[in-house]
Amino acid sequence: MALKSTNPTTTDAWKKLQAHFEIIKSKHLKEMFKSDAKRANDLTLKWDDFYVDFSKNRVTKETIDLLIELANELDLKDAISKYFDGDIINATEGRAVLHTALRAPKEAVVLVDGENVIPEVHAVKKKIEEFTNAVVSGTHKGYSGKAITDVVNIGIGGSDLGPAMVVDSLQFYKNQLNTHFVSNVDGDHYKEVIKDLNPETTLFVIVSKTFTTQETLSNANSIRTWFLESQPKEAVASHFVAVSTNIESVKNFGIDEANIFPMKDWVGGRFSLWSAVGLSISLALGYEHFESLLDGAHKMDEHFKSTDFNENIPVIAALLTVWYNNFFESESEAIIPYTQYLNQFATYLQQGIMESNGKSVDREGNKVNYQTGTIIWGEPGTNSQHAFFQLIHQGTKLIPTDFIGYVESLHGNKDHHNKLMSNYFAQTEALMNGKTEEEVLAELNEQSISEEEIKQLLAFKVFEGNKPTTSLLIQKLTPESLGKLIAMYEHKIFVQGIVWNIYSYDQFGVELGKQLAKTILTELNSGSLSVTHDASTKNLLAYFRENC
Ligand code: F6P
Repeated sequence: MALKSTNPTTTDAWKKLQAHFEIIKSKHLKEMFKSDAKRANDLTLKWDDFYVDFSKNRVTKETIDLLIELANELDLKDAISKYFDGDIINATEGRAVLHTALRAPKEAVVLVDGENVIPEVHAVKKKIEEFTNAVVSGTHKGYSGKAITDVVNIGIGGSDLGPAMVVDSLQFYKNQLNTHFVSNVDGDHYKEVIKDLNPETTLFVIVSKTFTTQETLSNANSIRTWFLESQPKEAVASHFVAVSTNIESVKNFGIDEANIFPMKDWVGGRFSLWSAVGLSISLALGYEHFESLLDGAHKMDEHFKSTDFNENIPVIAALLTVWYNNFFESESEAIIPYTQYLNQFATYLQQGIMESNGKSVDREGNKVNYQTGTIIWGEPGTNSQHAFFQLIHQGTKLIPTDFIGYVESLHGNKDHHNKLMSNYFAQTEALMNGKTEEEVLAELNEQSISEEEIKQLLAFKVFEGNKPTTSLLIQKLTPESLGKLIAMYEHKIFVQGIVWNIYSYDQFGVELGKQLAKTILTELNSGSLSVTHDASTKNLLAYFRENC
C-alpha cells in the first residue's frame, strides 16, 4: 500500500508546536537545566552499547511529546510497517525500499510481489562469503598463479561512498589486502590509483547498480585497457568481477556470469553497502566482520521497529531535525565524530541525507510550503575545532551538531583518548553554556590589561551559548557498532521523509546534469558547439576548446 500523504503544517500538532516554539525560542539551555534537575536523565536514551544524550537540545519534555504527537498524527507507525514489509514506498520509481531485508536473519520472511526475498539475499551472502574466503586465503589466484594483494573498487555515489567509508572506518580490523577506490571520471583519479599496482595481483570490483553510469563505465573500460596492455584476454575472468542488477550489460562488458554478484532494484544506491555492493568491505575486512556490520544494522532495525517513539533513537533524532529545520529555521546540521577513523562519515551521510531528502514536491506532486532536507557537513574532532568550530560557537547561524564519541579507543592509548574525549565533552558544554559578560569581565580583570582594553575586548569575547548538540557515546568502534550507527541515520532519513511528506528514495535531481553532460560531451568531441547554450556556457565552452 502507498504511503499516506498529509501536509505536516496542517496537523494539530504542528500548530501546537508553533505556539510552543514561541515559548521555547528565547529559553537558554542553561535555564532549562537549572529549572529541571531530572532533565539530563529524562532526555537520555540508553540502548545496547549506545548512550544518547539529547538533553543539550533546545527542547523540553513537552517539545518531545508534541513532536511525537506530530509523528502519530502523520501515522509514522503505519509508514514504518510499510517500509519493513516491502510496500512500494518508493512510488515514483515503483519500488519497495528494502535495505533492511539485506541484514534480516535467514528465518525472516519479506515478500516482494508475493515472493520471499530472504533466501536469495542469503544465497548472495553465501557467494560473497565464499569468494571473500578464496581471495583472502589466496585460493583464488590471479591468472599467472599469484595471490591477490590489491582490490580496486570501481563505482561512484552509493557504489563507492558506503564501501569506501566502511573500509576506512574499520581499517583497524583489516586483513592483508590493500583496498583502493576509483570513483571520479577525472582520468587523473584512476591513473593515480593504478600507477603502482601490479595487474597480476590486482582484483577489480566494478560496482554499478544500473551498469550505465558514465563515470564507472569509463573508469572500468580504461582500467581494462590498461590491464590488457600486459595481460592476455583470458586473464580478465580472474581479475574482474562486478556487482549489478544489469546482468546483460555486465556480460557484454566481458565479465563471466559466475563473477557477477547480483543485487535487486529494491536496494537504493545510497543504502546499498549491505548488499553485494559491500563486496569490497567483505574482501578488506573478512566476511565475519561484514556479517557483524550487518548484524549491528539489524539490531538497530529491531530497535527502530519495535521501540516506543519516546525511547526510539532514530525517531527522536529525526524529530529534533524537524524541530530545528522547520521551527528554528536552521539550514544545516554538523556531524562531528571524535575518532579519526570516521573521517569519511559525514561525506557518506551527505549522499544518504541530501540525495534522499533534498526534495521540494510532496507525495501528491504539490510544491511544499515548508522546508525539507537539511545540509549536512562535518569532519572529525578535534581537527574540526581548529577549522570551522568558530562559526558554530560565535557565528550567526544555529547549527545543531551531533557529537559521536567512543568510550574505548582501538589502540588503547589512554592518555590520547582522554585528551580527545575531554575535547568532545568540553565542546558540547561550551556550545551550551557560552560565556557571559560577567564571566569574561572576571577573566579579563585577572589579566594585567587596562580598563580601556577590557572595554574594547568585552563584546568580542562573549559567547551567547545555547547551541544545541546531541551526544552519542558508543562503547567501541566495531563492525557491529558501526552497523548500528549507519542504520540509525538511515532510519532518521526515513522518518524525516515521512514527516516532510516527500519521497525520499528517488533522485531525479541528479539526472538533468547527467543528460546535459552527455550532449556537451558530444559537442566537445566533435568540435561543433551548439548555438542553443546560454551566452555564459557558450563562452566557457569556446574558451575551453581554444585552450585545451
Ligand atoms: O548520483 C546518482 C546515483 O544514481 C546514485 O543514487 C547512485 O548511488 C549513483 O548514481 C551510482 O549509480 P550506479 O550504482 O547505478 O552506477
